[in-house]
Parts: sequence; C-alpha cells; structure tokens
Amino acid sequence: MQAALVAPPPIVSRQLNPPPVLAPAACRDQLDRPLKDLRLSVIDQCNFRCTYCMPKERFGRDYPFLSPGQRLSDRELLQIVRGFVSLGVEKVRLTGGEPLLRKGIESLVEGIASMSSTTGRPVEVAMTTNGSLLARKARSLRDAGLRRVTVSLDSLDDRTFRAMNDVDFPVQRVLEGIDAACAAGLAPVKVNCVVERGTNDGQVLPLVEHFRGSDVTLRFIEYMDVEGPSAWSRSRVMPSDEIRAIVERAHALVPVVRRSSETASNFLLADGSLKVGFISSVSHPFCGDCTRARVSVDGRLFLCLFATDSIDLRCQLAASRPAEAIADAVRDAWQARGDRYSELREERRANGKRQYPTVRMSLVGG
Ligand code: GTP
Ligand code: 5AD
Ligand code: SF4
Ligand code: SF4
Repeated sequence: MQAALVAPPPIVSRQLNPPPVLAPAACRDQLDRPLKDLRLSVIDQCNFRCTYCMPKERFGRDYPFLSPGQRLSDRELLQIVRGFVSLGVEKVRLTGGEPLLRKGIESLVEGIASMSSTTGRPVEVAMTTNGSLLARKARSLRDAGLRRVTVSLDSLDDRTFRAMNDVDFPVQRVLEGIDAACAAGLAPVKVNCVVERGTNDGQVLPLVEHFRGSDVTLRFIEYMDVEGPSAWSRSRVMPSDEIRAIVERAHALVPVVRRSSETASNFLLADGSLKVGFISSVSHPFCGDCTRARVSVDGRLFLCLFATDSIDLRCQLAASRPAEAIADAVRDAWQARGDRYSELREERRANGKRQYPTVRMSLVGG
C-alpha cells in the first residue's frame, strides 16, 4: 500500500517573528526586592547650602570634600554603570551634590545613554539638580541623551528661596532653568519641594498655582533627618497628609495608580491641570519596594539612603574585566541586602530608642 502523502509543515519565516529578548532574572535582595535603579552621585560638592541638606555651619570652607583625585573619572564611572546594566538596571539617575558642577557632564550622560540594557532598550538617564545652571545646559544635556530632569525648588517667594539655599541665589534663575528643561523636551520635568514647617509651608499652594497647566510634575517631600542639619526635629516635619490637605482645600485630587517602587504617591488635580506627588519618607516609609542602589563618586556602593557602611567598588576597577568584576560584587552585596532604614527609624523613634547615625545626602545623592 502506498503511504499517504503528508504535506510538509509550512515554512515559517523566523525573520518575521524574532524570539523575544529574555532579560536575565533580576537580582533580588533578602526582602525579594529586585535591583532596578542606580543613583550615581557624580560630585559631592554643591553651590547651594540648603539648610536641610548642607547647612553652612557644617559645610564651611574647611569641609573635607573629596579632592579631584578621589573622584572617579568618567571612564571609571562608566565601567561601574556597565556592571549595573549587566545586572538588569535600566535607569540611571545622576545626582550630587550638584551634578552640573561636574566638568564635562554631557559626555558622561552620552556614555551612559549609549549603553543598551539587557532588554535591548537604551539605558534611561535622568538627573536631579538644583537648577542653577540648567538654563544654559538643558539643550546640550538633551542632545547628549538625558531623558528626564528633576529640579529642587522649595519656594517661589524669592526671600524664602534665598534663605533656604543660603547662598542668596535668586529663584528666577531656577525658574528659567525649569522652562529651559521643558523647552528642551526633558519632560515630564519633576519639581521637588522639601517642606519644612514654619519655613516654606506657606509655599505649597503658590507652587501648585504656578505650575498648573505646565509640563511639570510637582512633588512635596517630607523633611528627613539626614547628616548635616542639626536643626532637624520631628516638629519641623510637615507630614504628607497635612500638605495634601492644604492642596485639597483649593483643589479636588484624583489618585493616580502608583507604579511599583515609585517614591511618590501621585494625584491629578481634578481638572487635569497638574500632577502632584507626595513623598512620605518619614510618615509612610516606602522601603517595602525599594529597588534603588546608590554609588558615590569615590566608587562606594550604598544599599540604602541611610546606610553608613558601604562596599568599595573602586578596587574592582583594576580587574581585567572590570564590568564583570563589578557586577559580581554588586550582585553579592544586593543579595545580602536587608536594609529598610526609614521603616526602622520610625519604629525606633516610636519606641524612644537611640537613633541610627545618618548619612550625608550630598555624598550618596538625594
Ligand atoms: P524617578 O522614579 O526616576 O523619577 O526618580 P525619583 O522620583 O525616585 O527621584 P528623585 O530624585 O526625584 O527622588 C525624590 C526624593 O525622594 C529624593 O530627593 C529623596 O528626598 C527622596 N527619596 C528618593 N529615593 C529615596 C529612598 O530610596 N529613600 C528615601 N527615604 N527617600 C528617597
Ligand atoms: N529631607 C528630604 N529631602 C532632602 N533632600 C536633601 N536633603 C533632604 C532632607 N533633609 C533631597 C531633596 C532635594 C534632593 C537633591 O535631595 O529632595 O531635591
Ligand atoms: Fe545642594 Fe541639593 Fe543639597 Fe541643596 S539639596 S545643598 S542643592 S545637594
Ligand atoms: Fe530604600 Fe533605604 Fe530609602 Fe528605605 S530608607 S526606601 S530601603 S533607600
């Protein structure tokens, strides 16, 4: 008997349906939090002396900032970033001190923006800046590949702003920087306002009114007890619920679904004219889904904003394959990570226990 002819299976072109690029499983810590973001501090100096961050009495002329020789070069910072990217990091935020004080910042941005993440997409580069140099730098930063920018702005009132930056810097120049960032397409530009009771809490509504209808997302941040400000006390913290109530007296707010690991709880003004966020690091800590690693400009890895111990990555730079050596060191450290200091600080405070030491924000980035 003749065998029945079976039609051959159709030839499917692989070109039309390429297999998806599978990213390696994210590196997870002891609390099952994946490593997703890198915050890279590119300089520990700043041209402002914000009273809540670098008060003049502590950060005076004789303060031992890192010398140029102690700061990693662009090449070394790029090696470190490559190590993180190979572990699945897709977002790098450049911070300081004030990152725009670093010479040649554009080429560092360009070096990172030209890297591909493990999913094949370009690495997203963002920056947190005080905005003082942004008006003249926004365009070149955008051209170099910067995608987004966050600008600190604590007051619209010039006198309050000058008093808070404590170097008599006029608010108008920062507003010009924000405009330049919007015009350059660095949207959505985020504006961060640290609210200190008795100092700038009267600025909440003026800031809301000022940015309505713009491309800006406005975020109010609770005043945290980081190293430096001796003036910190719980009574000067304005909890987010209170700040939100101020906004709600003038505008109905509609909640926006929170993206996992996002620091802010966001709302839209009911008329859609502004997105407002509240960062409640003190009253409602968000350690549970914290995916952020921090690296200081002298090459130390901090697993938490409040971690006072660090892992030296500089020593891995001499390896013959530095990106791999760094990735191994970071993976080991991240897998052992159990930090959740904001939560623990609140617990200790509530139980009247002695507080942990604090870390310098301007070294590890805000
Ligand atoms: P994107 O998600 O990239 O937009 O960044 P972000 O919103 O996390 O960055 P941004 O620098 O604007 O962070 C806002 C502020 O939130 C910081 O300046 C800090 O005051 C605070 N913050 C950010 N990350 C942490 C964190 O991990 N822990 C605590 N306690 N506060 C944080
Ligand atoms: N509390 C809250 N945020 C702070 N930052 C610096 N110091 C503090 C503090 N004591 C953050 C601000 C600023 C960023 C650079 O660092 O959000 O925008
Ligand atoms: Fe400088 Fe930013 Fe700290 Fe202010 S908050 S002193 S601008 S690093
Ligand atoms: Fe993350 Fe530490 Fe901040 Fe908690 S306190 S959210 S663990 S950086």
